[in-house]
Amino acid sequence: MELATARLRLDRLRHGDAAALLAYRADPAVSRYQGWRPASLDDAAGFIQRQQAVVFDTLGSWFQFALRLRDSGELVGDLGLHFVDADTVEFGVTLSPAHQGRRLAAEAVRAALALMFDDLKRHRVYASVDPRNIACIALLERLGMRKEAHFRESWRDGDAWADDVVYAMLAREWGGRG
Ligand SMILES: CC(C)(COP(=O)(O)OP(=O)(O)OC[C@H]1O[C@@H](n2cnc3c(N)ncnc32)[C@H](O)[C@@H]1OP(=O)(O)O)[C@@H](O)C(=O)NCCC(=O)NCCS
Repeated sequence: MELATARLRLDRLRHGDAAALLAYRADPAVSRYQGWRPASLDDAAGFIQRQQAVVFDTLGSWFQFALRLRDSGELVGDLGLHFVDADTVEFGVTLSPAHQGRRLAAEAVRAALALMFDDLKRHRVYASVDPRNIACIALLERLGMRKEAHFRESWRDGDAWADDVVYAMLAREWGGRG
């Protein structure tokens, strides 16, 4: 599965991406509100290895797109799609700090939303985010997603309890945006 936007190419992660993936995913500022942080090059390579076996749109699986600059091919981030069931998809997006603040994530997510709603005819797409993650919340609101839940102290963040908010979009809310 491959997608293209004005500035990005979305395709599969490759073995050669491990060092670049590690560099931004292990950055504490990037992993602060995320469930996975690679501890080593082996960890990043293992993640990519497991992704090679994932068949796109398999219910229950996460498929991780690589986000590459169209011009240079540089890996600048990744976008995960969780095929929850036949109607519902969850996503998460991550950008290398060097490429944040250019609305690249919105460009990538819009392409993924078009694929989910227009091509795969999904009914609902959602993202779950820590309410302290201001950049991510700004992104979700800019995309026109609705805040539909705020769970109090729903997950353990080290020694503390943390909240979790859910933003969603329905197919009929996407209509016209693509
Ligand atoms: C969330 C993330 C993907 C956004 O990517 P991005 O391409 O840099 O996003 P944008 O350039 O559209 O910026 C997002 C918005 O956050 C705002 N923002 C960024 N940092 C901010 C801060 N510290 N305080 C307030 N607003 C901030 C930007 O101004 C922008 O708002 P706007 O669109 O209204 O102008 C990126 O910050 C990231 O990778 N974060 C680390 C990983 C992560 O937590 N991912 C979320 C998991 S779902």
